[in-house]
Amino acid sequence: MKSVVINKPGELVLQQRDIPQPAAGEVRIKIRSASICGSDVHIWRGHNPFARYPRVIGHEFFGVIDAVGAGADSRRIGERVAVDPVVSCGHCYPCSVGRPNVCASLQVIGVHRDGGFSEYACAPAENAYLLPAAIPDEVASLVEPFTIAANITAFLKPTTRDVALVYGAGPMGLTVVQVLKGVYDVSRVIVVDRIPQRLALARASGADLTLDNGTTPLAELLNGEQPTLIVDAACHPSILPEAVALASPAARIGLLGFSGDPCTVTQQSLTSKEISLFTSRLNSKRFPAVIDWMARGIIAPAKLVTHSLPLAQIEEAMTIFEQDPQRCCKVILTVG
Ligand code: NAI
Ligand code: MN
Ligand code: ZN
Repeated sequence: MKSVVINKPGELVLQQRDIPQPAAGEVRIKIRSASICGSDVHIWRGHNPFARYPRVIGHEFFGVIDAVGAGADSRRIGERVAVDPVVSCGHCYPCSVGRPNVCASLQVIGVHRDGGFSEYACAPAENAYLLPAAIPDEVASLVEPFTIAANITAFLKPTTRDVALVYGAGPMGLTVVQVLKGVYDVSRVIVVDRIPQRLALARASGADLTLDNGTTPLAELLNGEQPTLIVDAACHPSILPEAVALASPAARIGLLGFSGDPCTVTQQSLTSKEISLFTSRLNSKRFPAVIDWMARGIIAPAKLVTHSLPLAQIEEAMTIFEQDPQRCCKVILTVG
């Protein structure tokens, strides 16, 4: 089979490999499509602290089960499935409280173990979720990025009365916007970015107001309006102090970033408004919810897709994704 391998930081190759055999409890998936995420580029560039090399990258993928390992149900052969990349132990403290996404021995497919930019991949059977026919092949790999939005919004508990502010209109910000509008029916969703084309995508995804903070500070653009719910999907360390200053009393703020750089917030700025802070990493068993949302058409993943290329053109696809954020949002890789 052909697989996209990052041999070491900076070295991406399309490699001929043996088709993997599913281990006990695993299924093997013949992959039909995958999508590119910022973290794939970070592994390529050597900027992902969790990555081990050489690695077959890709954690957003879907396909058809074509083999099962010992103990896995062989009746599942032929199922169309999306694969949850979060592999957890099931018995540590976080797993025991329903937080397998921060399992003490967390393994992420495509990061810690070989992933889905490949013709075949293996995964624990319980990580492979049956897709209904209502979800077409073209968007089936996009379940995973929406689980990020599902996870953070589960903490934030949006209501129709919220005035939401989303920082960043990249793929992550857009999934959040779609979930806030389509799932939670939040009355007002404001998105801030400095790339006009991305703000246009945010409006297409349901944003009520978009603001360009490229030259004018956000505080000025908001004109006194105080968001009650804020999601940082831009993830620069300077954002949290600004968000805290702009937030309404009793607001909730959700953070998605992994920056190692410090940011400064005072206790007073948080406590005086009794602001709640939540962080969210990957997803804790959110595949069923997102599959349901997609099947019901209350989120629209196709609106994120700007490019589709065959797996063989991976380097070109990753380069467009990395270098052209004006035109590029989600890139679908077609396999086989
Ligand atoms: P992206 O880089 O495509 O999008 C970020 C957007 O934020 C860009 O459009 C950029 O112009 C905008 N931006 C940057 N600074 C800004 C500022 N100060 N104000 C307004 N807009 C600003 O990235 P993508 O793929 O959408 O991911 C966003 C972040 O989410 C990344 O930092 C990534 O590491 C993180 N992430 C976290 C996950 C988690 O589970 N916690 C999962 C996936 C991504
Ligand atoms: Mn992703
Ligand atoms: Zn665990």
